[in-house]
Amino acid sequence: MLSRVARPVATAAGLGRSFSGSSQCNAKVAVLGASGGIGQPLSLLLKNSPLVGELSLYDIAHTPGVAADLSHIETRAKVTGYLGAEQLPAALKGCEMVVMPAGVPRKPGMTRDDLFTTNASVVADLTEACARHCPEAMICVISNPVNSTIPITTEVFKKLGVYNPNKIFGVSTLDIVRANTFVAELKGLDPARVSVPVIGGHAGKTIIPLISQCNPKVEIPQDKLQALTERIQEAGTEVVKAKAGAGSATLSMAYAGARFAFSLLDAMNGKEGVVECAFVRSEETESPYFSTPLLLGKNGIEKNLGLGKLSAFEEKLVAEAMSELKASIKKGEDFVKNRK
Ligand code: NAD
Ligand code: LMR
Repeated sequence: MLSRVARPVATAAGLGRSFSGSSQCNAKVAVLGASGGIGQPLSLLLKNSPLVGELSLYDIAHTPGVAADLSHIETRAKVTGYLGAEQLPAALKGCEMVVMPAGVPRKPGMTRDDLFTTNASVVADLTEACARHCPEAMICVISNPVNSTIPITTEVFKKLGVYNPNKIFGVSTLDIVRANTFVAELKGLDPARVSVPVIGGHAGKTIIPLISQCNPKVEIPQDKLQALTERIQEAGTEVVKAKAGAGSATLSMAYAGARFAFSLLDAMNGKEGVVECAFVRSEETESPYFSTPLLLGKNGIEKNLGLGKLSAFEEKLVAEAMSELKASIKKGEDFVKNRK
């Protein structure tokens, strides 16, 4: 007789690290931009998690097919596809978390800021719908330029009178994932056991890896530290160049987005001691938004853990990031203020 083989219920731990998803809950999660390069593998990872009870897939193209495909997977999350703006309210109704990889990606030669022209209104429209239809949800924005799209999200929520700074996150987890991987490669360590905080923003020199706070502690000579830091800062461009016009990081971003979503869902579910870095409203520096390690809880950010002790090299990186960060933030804020 055929015995039923125990299925590997995917947990984030099953993805290689112990950032879990091992508990079970019934969260309703929406993915906005679900048919895209990030949206599809991210939706697959979410469908495979015991933390997700309902998965709401929204896009302006192809969601019926993506939803039909994912719905055949033998996990309990109920999958529904929603197509086009008139179906967006239904997609968002009752959601506890929204993950947003909607918008255009970079091509070689472009900066993330070059995406502003298209993505600012995509993010403003989608977050306005979130503010109207699921104002209590955790909003996790992946769409670039993150240094501007988070201020846009905040201003939209403020305009509609439902702003809660503890529930709006710019997903910068890919920078941490990359820093862990590159440090592990350099030092011959298991990347799943390496943890590097990455603070600041999510573009070029605003990405600030804190190698001095790496766990386990690593010694890296200054010339190699400089090169490692630059590689982490330019890792997105490395992928854009390698893809040669076919977009930017999608698979590693889906992994990183799932890691962040599972951490937040775990914390919402009562797990204690969950810490992730994300780009959020912040009073830790002179920049009004800044990524630092955050203690997550049932209601989002429980405590901002701040920058910690920096090396002189890292202090200089923070100082050098400030003017670009503040300009990108202002650009996002002004966009919403000047919008009809
Ligand atoms: P993609 O073009 O493959 O997919 C984007 C999806 O968004 C498409 O399916 C498209 O139909 C959809 N979309 C466009 N406008 C929409 C709207 N108004 N409503 C709903 N859906 C809409 O792009 P991708 O590779 O998945 O990248 C998506 C975004 O994520 C880009 O802006 C990219 O720069 C960003 N990104 C961020 C990080 C990060 O670390 N935060 C990492 C990688 C990519
Ligand atoms: C990344 O870091 O990979 C993303 O922000 C995409 C990009 O444009 O580099």
